[in-house]
Amino acid sequence: AANLAAGECGRASHQRFAELTATPPQMYQLTAKENPLWRYTHADNAYYPAQPVWGYEGNSSGVVSMPGPTIHARYGTPVILRIRNELPPLHSGFGSPEISTHLHNMHTPSESDGYAGDFYSPQQQGPTLTAPGSFNDHFYPNVYAGLDEFAPGSPIGDSREALGSLFYHDHTEGVTAPNVLKGLLGRYNIYDALDTGNETTGLRLPSGPYDYNLTFADKRFDSGGRLFFDELNPEGVLGDKTVVNGKIEPTLRVARRKYRFRLLSAGPSRFYEFYLQNAGRTTIYTYTIISSDGNLLPNPLINQFRVRLAPAERADIVIDFSRFPLGTTLYLVNQLVQIETRQPTAAQAPGTQVLKFIVDRNPSEPDTTPVLTASTPLRPLRTLTAAELAGPTVRSWNFERSSGMWSVNGQFFNVLTARATITKGATEIWEFINNDNGWQHPIHVHFEEGRILSKFQNGVSVPIPPIERGRKDVFVLGPNSSMRVLFRFRDFTGKYLMHCHNLTHEDHAMMVRYDIV
Ligand code: C2O
Ligand code: CU
Repeated sequence: AANLAAGECGRASHQRFAELTATPPQMYQLTAKENPLWRYTHADNAYYPAQPVWGYEGNSSGVVSMPGPTIHARYGTPVILRIRNELPPLHSGFGSPEISTHLHNMHTPSESDGYAGDFYSPQQQGPTLTAPGSFNDHFYPNVYAGLDEFAPGSPIGDSREALGSLFYHDHTEGVTAPNVLKGLLGRYNIYDALDTGNETTGLRLPSGPYDYNLTFADKRFDSGGRLFFDELNPEGVLGDKTVVNGKIEPTLRVARRKYRFRLLSAGPSRFYEFYLQNAGRTTIYTYTIISSDGNLLPNPLINQFRVRLAPAERADIVIDFSRFPLGTTLYLVNQLVQIETRQPTAAQAPGTQVLKFIVDRNPSEPDTTPVLTASTPLRPLRTLTAAELAGPTVRSWNFERSSGMWSVNGQFFNVLTARATITKGATEIWEFINNDNGWQHPIHVHFEEGRILSKFQNGVSVPIPPIERGRKDVFVLGPNSSMRVLFRFRDFTGKYLMHCHNLTHEDHAMMVRYDIV
């Protein structure tokens, strides 16, 4: 984006940040475009003909990929991301050519957050923008939350809420499910000194080619092998196939060493539960979970057999392939039977081998990843104060099915109506409630991460599983359950979103605008 000089993005938040730090932003450009000849398989499989997908071209590379290019960012170095929209206004099939891109779950100024009403194309704009346009500039400060407490060069201490595994995706009002299904998503990994430090200060987790994003998405194909979107079903989209990084059940060749995999369920509606198994599926192997929703946990969870991911949830796992002989074939297997999205014909049998690993070489250099134990320190969690635990406002949000659609507190999303007004800097407890006995809702809150304080099922207090005890941005609300989550709303003002991240529920309007003032 050579034509975009520092300071030119014109964002008030950018100016504000510029007062606090002299670090010039990195500038990137992504162009949302159609790739007319996508292949869902690596082989020339006639059943899945080359077909259009939507994705992003990085800078001016000429390559439109799906998922889009991964952005590698660093705490302390802001990013200005120009997102151009060159989607075809007239196209066949589903999807809407207006876009609004949200970086889930970056601590982002409101006008760069990809608000559902901030969609644009050269022809048209959303109700919260003033003009159509071919691009939008997004300013990502890449600071630890608590900007006002942040002085350049000072230890960050308590407010260090280092993320890691984020993703960007379309968020256009009412059409997020089809647009994301069609491919409008990509990954954003952010690092800080703990990740990138030297042998004594850094964590020395697998990095470079051994730090690998895995993006899972469900796709349903018609009898001609073409991607299909069921617009009339407000319940959700389950695929007959799972694609991993844009391909159906692909193979990844790995070295005999440790890898960090950053898993993401990109939906639209599928919950996964992944096991590492051998070819005959007679043995289950363990791995280590180091982060949830992109946040490193205080300590690794070792000897894990499975990890469950709701739409938009992330988990980073470390798999040690050094224990397998050369030539070993392994699979990541989804063993979850999903019944609550009542679409039996589209449901996959449990046991789908979504990703194949072949251990095909010895590492060319020694693996310096430390042995991860249950007491290895990763990222400490701030201790909550008595005032935070006892004092703050409690706001209740009830997630319900209403007239074949989806509501929060009995109301549907309206881009122009704020349903909560929060004073900047406030601490609040949000209570999420689901009184239905079948549906579940992965609730996502933009902007701030939360800490789960308590969970209830059928009115009875239940333990918080270890993987949900860190900082999270997706809160999985099971049937007949509720939970209380603590948030602090810091740094920026403006409009933000909270919604169910089953993208079909979101589009059928289980979403709330809240304003920080
Ligand atoms: Cu990942 Cu409001 O979204
Ligand atoms: Cu939902």
